[in-house]
Amino acid sequence: MKKADVIIVGSGIAALQLARTLSQQSHVMIITKNHRRSSNSFMAQGGIAAAISKEDHSDQHFIDTMIAGEWHGNNERVKRLVEEGKEAVEELIAMKAPFDRNTNDEFSLGMEGAHSTHRILHSGGDQTGKHLINFLLETLSTPNVEWIENEMVIELLFNTSGSCIGVQTKNYAEETREYFSSHIVLATGGAGGMYLPTSNHPSVSGDGLAMAYRAGARIADLEFFQFHPTLLTIEGEAIGLISEAVRGAGGTLINDHGDRIMEGKHPQLELGPRHIVAHEIFKQNESGRKVYLDISNIDRFQTRFPSISTMCVQNGICLEEGKIPVSPGSHFMMGGVVIDEIGRTNLKGLYAIGEVACSGVHGANRLASNSLLEGLVYGKRLASYLIKSLEIEGPRDFSSIKFRKKTKGSLPFSMKEIQENMMKYVGIIRDKKGIDIQLSWLKSTSLSPFENIEDWDRKTIQTYYMWINALLMTESASLRTESRGGHIRLDFPQVDDSNWLKKRIVHEQRNQRMKVEYDEQREIKIYA
Ligand code: SIN
Repeated sequence: MKKADVIIVGSGIAALQLARTLSQQSHVMIITKNHRRSSNSFMAQGGIAAAISKEDHSDQHFIDTMIAGEWHGNNERVKRLVEEGKEAVEELIAMKAPFDRNTNDEFSLGMEGAHSTHRILHSGGDQTGKHLINFLLETLSTPNVEWIENEMVIELLFNTSGSCIGVQTKNYAEETREYFSSHIVLATGGAGGMYLPTSNHPSVSGDGLAMAYRAGARIADLEFFQFHPTLLTIEGEAIGLISEAVRGAGGTLINDHGDRIMEGKHPQLELGPRHIVAHEIFKQNESGRKVYLDISNIDRFQTRFPSISTMCVQNGICLEEGKIPVSPGSHFMMGGVVIDEIGRTNLKGLYAIGEVACSGVHGANRLASNSLLEGLVYGKRLASYLIKSLEIEGPRDFSSIKFRKKTKGSLPFSMKEIQENMMKYVGIIRDKKGIDIQLSWLKSTSLSPFENIEDWDRKTIQTYYMWINALLMTESASLRTESRGGHIRLDFPQVDDSNWLKKRIVHEQRNQRMKVEYDEQREIKIYA
């Protein structure tokens, strides 16, 4: 039996921040679907938001985060995020993390959407994720870290007392393996791959979310999904992200008539909250207009944005002409597996950190560059908790129980159909008609979300998990009859504070039935 003190599923920033501290004294196993550098964190162009400048304050960062999240965020959790985030960044600085500095040797702090001041640390211009992940990989205490790469976790394992005690995986040869630990941490990232187009790494399609739901974890806020306004788009195909930092450096959004499309739409123009900017571009595209990021007044563009420049040039864009064609695509999942302030789920032994978790810090729409920050904060916090737990831990029963009947893996949907239909009906804008079409399409199968998938192949499992997530997201979107943050309903275009402020839609398993109820915490529960 292969065992570790802690198993971490995923290899992004939250995973590595956790592993960095734990691996000083404990045996950590990191399991990742592909290569250790195949993650959204590694691809991150934007940086880390932290109020480290003398002119800034965490309270202001708190306000900006709450406003971007349209007050759906949890006040206490957001407050802790910005305060502990600043400390976590200062710790990285003390460790000599390679953040960019200007000629006076001060940090060059960037500006991004919905921030009231310059507070974004970058590394290598637009290569923050790559530099930071490489830096964190080097800080791991290697003898204590066991890497399992190219194995997809397909199921969480439980013992008879209901504790999560391990994971089942599949490699590319479709061989099944099992690994055991008293502490299983999901750091699997979000579910951007549920949509097309997307800025996400192709492997990020929400496996962690679906597995947690199947195991009985509480899932919330799935109707809030962030679409990034600016993906480089050529002949209708999205190629890759053009960081918001480009707009922060002075880039403007114009249509093919040369009109500045954000004028009169938001006081912060191109730097308004992402859902607002994405929606305006979407409307332009719907009315047949192309939209461009005008970079003609950005000084030293190629030096400041080296990887974006390379991507543009490789795709035939002449940077001297100063116009990059853009359109929106899926980017970040605000909801996820419900956790407490440490990262614990409602299931003993199961934790979630980073984008897969619903930590309450992003509200209805995440503030730019707060996601790497969340990974740093929750990775660190969970590490302190687990170190103490490991010290006092008694023996645990590692015999897993199998509780699902085997079924044949044949799905009536392809991955592409799910991605395209999610974009069409539960994408940047929604309404009852589209949501109902999508719900009845998703439900036109006899499959349940609780099939035994052990004998299915990886691709089929991934598609099946996308179908489960699509179902949960669409149900959530149908219930929230208002527009807030990343949930824009054409039939309910306003924020409706009297009915919805701080109210969450939560999916839970109970007696295999569907029910909607309200409780004192102003949550709506959907039972499956
Ligand atoms: C970006 O660079 O625009 C993305 C950064 C983020 O999502 O916070």
